[in-house]
Amino acid sequence: MTATIYTIASGKGGTGKTTTTVNLGAALAGLGKKTLILDADIGMANLGLLLGLERSEVTLHEVLADTANIEDATYESVNGLKVVPCGISLKGFQNANPEKLHDIMDGLVEKFDFILIDAPAGISKDGVVPLAIADEILLVVNPDISSIADALKTKILVEMLDNTVTGAILNKVGNETTEFSKEKVEQLLEVPILGAVPEDEDVRNAAASRMPVVVKNPGSPTAIAFKRLAASLAGEEMPEETVVEEKKEGFVGKLARKIFGGK
Ligand SMILES: Nc1ncnc2c1ncn2[C@@H]1O[C@H](COP(=O)(O)OP(=O)(O)OP(=O)(O)O)[C@@H](O)[C@H]1O
Ligand SMILES: [Mg+2]
Repeated sequence: MTATIYTIASGKGGTGKTTTTVNLGAALAGLGKKTLILDADIGMANLGLLLGLERSEVTLHEVLADTANIEDATYESVNGLKVVPCGISLKGFQNANPEKLHDIMDGLVEKFDFILIDAPAGISKDGVVPLAIADEILLVVNPDISSIADALKTKILVEMLDNTVTGAILNKVGNETTEFSKEKVEQLLEVPILGAVPEDEDVRNAAASRMPVVVKNPGSPTAIAFKRLAASLAGEEMPEETVVEEKKEGFVGKLARKIFGGK
């Protein structure tokens, strides 16, 4: 077994990198894939917070400071997902050497099918290592111009590092007419859109419950989008039950059908 290392990056902050890492990780683990997610946003870590692991004593900070082993900073979460959270202290950040991630990955790749790295926003020095060590890079973008422009900057940085962006995930898709379409985003970024995740309060509610939305609301449109993406990364068919749930018609849909007709 040799893991594929996916780095989840963006450019602009707040596009949904951590949300995507947690949900894709949980969905891959749910498919029976040995999966580890790691918070490489060493200055502004919050992956642990989304899974109720924020009180963990040993984190990636200590591993990057050479005062702990990666095994001691690895915790088990939903679906058997393994998680390496990062600390939030300024001191921890100052003492951490991001370059050490190279060695850490060497020791981990034999143990997992998938390793997902949650990268920091922007094009800081800490962000370069996760981009350099990735086998595959996924950009999380929102359908607005500033998110797309910043994602383009990250794509250029990736190319300067002699790596390539595999594709993008369009997150927080709504119904606003001002939004960029999937096709337009593909055209601007010149990478395929591998998945589209709607903007939905389910995501924020799940975060407040410290659970991935794929576990808390597995039949919700956002959960289905993440599970669909996980299945395609794993080269598997979408599990039957998920597709069935997606087909369930909501109240508004039923009403619209009654008013306007149709099958
Ligand atoms: N599809 C979605 N629908 C609704 N809210 C979302 C969605 N995706 C993410 N969010 C919310 O947007 C906010 C930012 O998400 P997240 O922390 O995952 O982004 P990020 O890219 O990791 O941010 P940062 O750059 O600060 O690390 C959070 O409040 C999250 O709950
Ligand atoms: Mg984040």
